[in-house]
Amino acid sequence: MKKYAIGVDVGGSGIKAAPVDLKTGEFAAERYRIPTPENASPVEIAGIIKELVEHFEPKKNTPVGVSFPAPILGGVVPFIANLSQEWAGMNAQELLVTELGRPVTVINDADAAGYGEVRYGAAKGAKGTVLVLTLGTGIGSALVSHGHLVPNTEMGHILLPNGMEAEHYASSGVREKEELEYEEWAQRLQVVFDTYEQLFSPDVFIVGGGVSKKHKKFVPLIETRAPIIPAELRNAAGIVGAASLAWEAANEA
Ligand code: BGC
Repeated sequence: MKKYAIGVDVGGSGIKAAPVDLKTGEFAAERYRIPTPENASPVEIAGIIKELVEHFEPKKNTPVGVSFPAPILGGVVPFIANLSQEWAGMNAQELLVTELGRPVTVINDADAAGYGEVRYGAAKGAKGTVLVLTLGTGIGSALVSHGHLVPNTEMGHILLPNGMEAEHYASSGVREKEELEYEEWAQRLQVVFDTYEQLFSPDVFIVGGGVSKKHKKFVPLIETRAPIIPAELRNAAGIVGAASLAWEAANEA
């Protein structure tokens, strides 16, 4: 029997979903995307997630994993930086279980991406400490130690020596907004990587997010002790990781 789950990736600019074949970590059908409406309420986002999931006409028990751009503690969003503040304090998992009427697992987007890379991608079999960073509207982090994920690390909010939050200074969203050249952006990322190296001493960095397909333009400009490698699953990692975790949660239950 094939192992399938649906992964949904909620981002600042789009919400994307695909069914994932969990044996290979590959999409079992073409990804479907709906742009994230500006200032969308949680109920609106939940409605979009439902539409995306139903597009694939899944069986009743097919688990759904949702990768969400905020820390997730037992389904609850304690705070959120880049979507409506209405999410803060809400139980996102309960909302989505009710809306979708099926098993749903919600996890932080960078943790989902990190998990995807550990299971199927660039961090497969990696030893030591792996720090996965997703560069998008914000900066997400997944800290993996000897294959185990330490969830909700939120390194995008670490203060840099210049007093700014890492993601306010050097996310890919900031690069777009300030129209930074890749060279200028790499200089900002250098400060971020220096800070993370000093605090966490990873053995390897993995860089994900949509911009990771352009890694040749900025990764070689950053100097670090640990190697920086591009995410193998690129921006599919969140969908794949969330689907994989949802499958595990549903089969443990
Ligand atoms: C959020 C994180 C998220 C990251 C990337 C940050 O602003 O606090 O939870 O992983 O953005 O989306």
